[in-house]
Amino acid sequence: MNKMLKNVLFTTVTGITMTMSSMTFAATEIKTAFNQSDQHPQYLALEEFGKQLEMATDGRYTVKIYPNALLGDQRASLELVQSGAVQMAVVANPLVENYDKTFTAIGMPFAYTGIEHQEKVFTSGALDSLFSSTKKFGFEVLTAYTAGSRNVYTKGSNVKSVSDMKGQKIRVMQSNTMVEMLGCMGGTGVPMSQGEVYTAVQQGVLDGGENNEITYADMKHYEVAPYFSKTSHLMVPDLVIISDDFINSMSKSDQATIRKLAKESTVDEFAKWNAKIGQARALAENNGATFVDVDVKQFQDSCKPLQQKLIKTDAQKELTKAISDLS
Ligand code: GCU
Repeated sequence: MNKMLKNVLFTTVTGITMTMSSMTFAATEIKTAFNQSDQHPQYLALEEFGKQLEMATDGRYTVKIYPNALLGDQRASLELVQSGAVQMAVVANPLVENYDKTFTAIGMPFAYTGIEHQEKVFTSGALDSLFSSTKKFGFEVLTAYTAGSRNVYTKGSNVKSVSDMKGQKIRVMQSNTMVEMLGCMGGTGVPMSQGEVYTAVQQGVLDGGENNEITYADMKHYEVAPYFSKTSHLMVPDLVIISDDFINSMSKSDQATIRKLAKESTVDEFAKWNAKIGQARALAENNGATFVDVDVKQFQDSCKPLQQKLIKTDAQKELTKAISDLS
């Protein structure tokens, strides 16, 4: 064989070998849409989940998180997951509730007695069948993360009662239940994506928003709405969703691994959340925010009729009971 032919053969064989080996070892990247910052406890928990997944699958899968709504707001992200263009996302419960009202039961006003109760519910297995039931919509819920409790904040003065809410335009998440809930609390709910709230308050389109302390601080909403009232009216779960087509493309054993690790990451996320919450409040206070405690019961009472109106199917009732039995 002449030298030139040998060289050609060598280059070709090496090329094929390299291509084959890179085919064998190329990791599949799981693009994950996230609408908050890379300092958020959920980001950190997802990052850890990604490391665990990579290790457990010998590098076959990696998780790449796109924070700050780089892949779109939560509604857009959910649609991208359904189409398989994005493999995973964190979306708040009301977005999934738009597809199946059974989810209303896990995001109702005052569904949980506190964060410990919520953690018990999320880690009890009580939500497993609900979470796999969304496969018919093109995604599966892998697990739920806490987003603490939601509270009203405004630009004028602290809201202390249902009557103080009168005439206040408060941004809510994009779901009818959230609009109705704000109505039962005495104000007017304006559905909008989270990223638009700062400017909308600044420009007077809104009087305020409602959220947890971490998002309030992370998004610097204290700059435009510095009066934060501890209404604690909702503990809305965030859901980690995965494209059904994508999870079906994994081997059975990798599917089991990803489901198991996602569930484990919930425990980690609660710990990270609890560690960060005080810091977020202090940051907002140091930047001029005023926090006041309010009588939560009056808001609870004014939302009772809504609760009765929304929880009507057998599935919702059973779930509500299962949640309350765990308190
Ligand atoms: C919380 C929640 C997010 C949600 C946001 C919102 O911060 O964790 O998932 O997007 O509220 O109000 O939109």
